[in-house]
Amino acid sequence: PGDYDLVVVANRLAVDRVTDPDGTSSWRRSPGGLVTALAPIMASREGAWVGWGGVADEALEPFTHDGMHLVPVELSEQDLTEYYEGFSNSTLWPLYHDVIARPAFHRQWWDTYLTVNVRFARAAAATAAPNATVWVQDYQLQLVPRLLRRLRPDVRIGYFHHIPFPPVDIYSQLPWRRSLLEGLLGADLIGFQRRSDVANFAGSVRRLLGGSFRSGALNVNDGHGGERAVTAEAFPISIDVATITALSRDPEVQARSRQIREELGNPNTILLGVDRLDYTKGIRHRIKAFAELLEDGSLDVEDVCLVQVASPSRENVGPYQELRDDIELAVGRVNGTYDTMGHTAIRYLHHSYPVEEMVALYLAADVMLVTALRDGMNLVAKEYVAARGGKGGVLVLSEFAGASDQLRKALLINPHDIDGMKDAILEAVAMAPQEATKRMRSMHRQIITHDVNKWSQDFLGRLAGGEQAADRQE
Ligand code: G6P
Repeated sequence: PGDYDLVVVANRLAVDRVTDPDGTSSWRRSPGGLVTALAPIMASREGAWVGWGGVADEALEPFTHDGMHLVPVELSEQDLTEYYEGFSNSTLWPLYHDVIARPAFHRQWWDTYLTVNVRFARAAAATAAPNATVWVQDYQLQLVPRLLRRLRPDVRIGYFHHIPFPPVDIYSQLPWRRSLLEGLLGADLIGFQRRSDVANFAGSVRRLLGGSFRSGALNVNDGHGGERAVTAEAFPISIDVATITALSRDPEVQARSRQIREELGNPNTILLGVDRLDYTKGIRHRIKAFAELLEDGSLDVEDVCLVQVASPSRENVGPYQELRDDIELAVGRVNGTYDTMGHTAIRYLHHSYPVEEMVALYLAADVMLVTALRDGMNLVAKEYVAARGGKGGVLVLSEFAGASDQLRKALLINPHDIDGMKDAILEAVAMAPQEATKRMRSMHRQIITHDVNKWSQDFLGRLAGGEQAADRQE
């Protein structure tokens, strides 16, 4: 056993490497909500974070950064190809997102996924103190709960699934469908984003393993002739509201947001899309709807500009390369057709930006477009609401994003229905300010009472044996 009372296990470490111009590199805490949410508990509870350091073939000793103990797991080039780009992001990711892209099944990838999961489980087992709590994150590590339980039957094990869990008829395509379910059932508590994910998971357990969840709990064999209860429940993740709110009130960020509007040529309306460049996000559908609105004259390039931030993601994976080509072709066509000397239809940015710039963009955007074909949660939708602070702005939100369970006052759309999406965009552009403010206030109340701290406290409280929260879906 190790020394740490709370151990988080995730594919990526909670820190990013930054390289200075002089070539020296150092670590910086990752800006993501999960890391921000867990940092205070990690400091107060002897916490450690097990994960990959972000570079292939690099053996690193455990180290401490910013009050957090970090335990690096080494991945070789082959591991990255077969476990990360292969099984995680070319098999599981498309399968779990409604087969929007076709999942590839390769036995060699599965073997490496298992090997790497064993490595993470061993690292966690060596880090956790007696009777510690271990919290495993996401689809890259679904075998870890069971592997870890075999090594360390004394620890409490939680698992949170950040992406959707598909309906059983899709899930059943996976050749290793039973092994993965058994991997997950090594946990005491399995968290999902939506109730529909819990129902899909329970359906797969019932169909493929013959067990059934009654009021969220299933009894499984504990390996010693007894039984152990596994609970599956929805814990919709959220964002670090305090940080976004503080930035939205920062005069420098507000000045930057006015500057953005000016730099875009002071359009009447700024539409905004912010996504990792991923085929699940519905970026093509969004561009198609916008292009048709320009084509049929409902929108005019002199008045309206679509800003599309597409942050680079998984660039070695084929479908991501094809998507980038498709989107850049589509943007080029639309701009070539509708741009004037002074105005551009789509301002496309293939970059990632610091959170300050993102909040300035949210403040500048009159309409936020979240048109995912399938998305576990979509935190951009919640960040937009937090940044607006109840002061208007319209959110157009896909019902296929988990966030639509909480943000009921958004204009909810089906992104496959291009006419419906066009209607929603026009409704958003024309919405009376009082109506926009009323909707945004209601969503803002939801967000401020359900931030990412509440999410992690709810999950860890439940894992420690606490009561089920009745209002978790609200
Ligand atoms: C999604 C997944 C995360 C993943 C993130 C970025 O949000 O749920 O597990 O870390 O995408 O993807 P990447 O492959 O760059 O880690």
